[in-house]
Amino acid sequence: MQGKVKDTTLAEQGRKKIKWAEDHMPVLMSLREKYKDSKPLKGARISGCLHVTKETAVLIETLRAVGAQVAWSGCNPLSTQNDVAAALYENDVPIWAWYGMNTEEFYWAIEKTIEQKPTMTLDDGADLIFTLHNKYPDIAKQVYGGSEETTTGVHRLRAMAKDNALLYPVIAVNDAETKWDFDNIYGTGQSSIDGILRATNILLAGKNFIVAGYGHCGKGAAMRAHGQGANVIVTEVKPTAALKAKLDGYRVMKMDEAAPLGDVFITATGMKDVIVKRHFRNMKDGAIVCNTGHYDCELNLNDLKNISTGREEIRDNCAKYNLRNGKHIYLLGEGRLVNLAAAEGHPSEVMDMSFANQFMSMMHVYKEKDSLETRIHDITEEQDQEIARLKLQTMGLSIDKLTKEQLAYRDSYNEGT
Ligand code: ADE
Repeated sequence: MQGKVKDTTLAEQGRKKIKWAEDHMPVLMSLREKYKDSKPLKGARISGCLHVTKETAVLIETLRAVGAQVAWSGCNPLSTQNDVAAALYENDVPIWAWYGMNTEEFYWAIEKTIEQKPTMTLDDGADLIFTLHNKYPDIAKQVYGGSEETTTGVHRLRAMAKDNALLYPVIAVNDAETKWDFDNIYGTGQSSIDGILRATNILLAGKNFIVAGYGHCGKGAAMRAHGQGANVIVTEVKPTAALKAKLDGYRVMKMDEAAPLGDVFITATGMKDVIVKRHFRNMKDGAIVCNTGHYDCELNLNDLKNISTGREEIRDNCAKYNLRNGKHIYLLGEGRLVNLAAAEGHPSEVMDMSFANQFMSMMHVYKEKDSLETRIHDITEEQDQEIARLKLQTMGLSIDKLTKEQLAYRDSYNEGT
């Protein structure tokens, strides 16, 4: 067996969780069923760097079921579910992942997955792709293509493509409608609240809940906090996003104004230094701070450390910082993605569509390996609609179909008033 996990005795518990996820990911499971005999990914070597959760386990085992050889590492030091990692390891998946890795171990694990000389990569945050490009360009040049799961990763890769630095094609899974419009909004919304509640068990009703960033993830967090009775305040830098937040019924202001008002702060911007020293200092005594963006740099944790006299662990994923000015701030999940560090990430039902997109992207790259241009590719409209159609079917929902006359009406420019 290859790999390194925390504790193999957790495998049985992890397997039960994976079974639960399978039962709640009908679209991905139907793809496994459809392709398991023909094995269209036979010969492919996929290295993956994505949160090791029960949902990811279903993706990994689906890729293997259709013929791929897979090696895996987690894409965040605090998101691996140790029991799931153990179950995968026991099922002979080469996996290097455990909760609480340090930075050196994190990159070591990525490099272990590169040893198989991947022909395809599957990333969440682009750390695997960057490691390949920076340290193993000769291996990268042999890669047919990859896929990227998250907004932050896609932004970084688009910048790389613009600089002509990309060595192989990448599919922007994040930008599929069946990904960002569901996973980023409903997934992040629910699981971030879940993480905050597991780490604190506070009553959200009546609290001032500050959401930094009103992209899809921020929108989801704001919507669910509002649903729990919190008073949501949004901070933004993009005028259109700020306007949307205002018209969705939230207060909009600068972080400098929000800092002294907030009871709970969550960052969802993809940008660094959203909350810095002066904000921490001006917060209420007892304010709770967390992040749901891909990287923890949204909160300047060095600033927090430097203005504190000490810190103590209050409960799992909740650390109390004692500030020199006499106030206290609670930091959740070390400022890592709160939904994965302090809870289980997005629910299986929503990852079903995200990972169906990942699966189809891997199939596409492998099939088109000789002709795919080296650039960032979008998911096709057909794939998006097909995944949504399958999802509706598994939910027992049917929808209307345009008639011939309606199709003609839609496509003609002759009919008016
Ligand atoms: N990102 C957010 N939630 C996730 C989950 N449950 N599995 C994998 N990646 C995720």
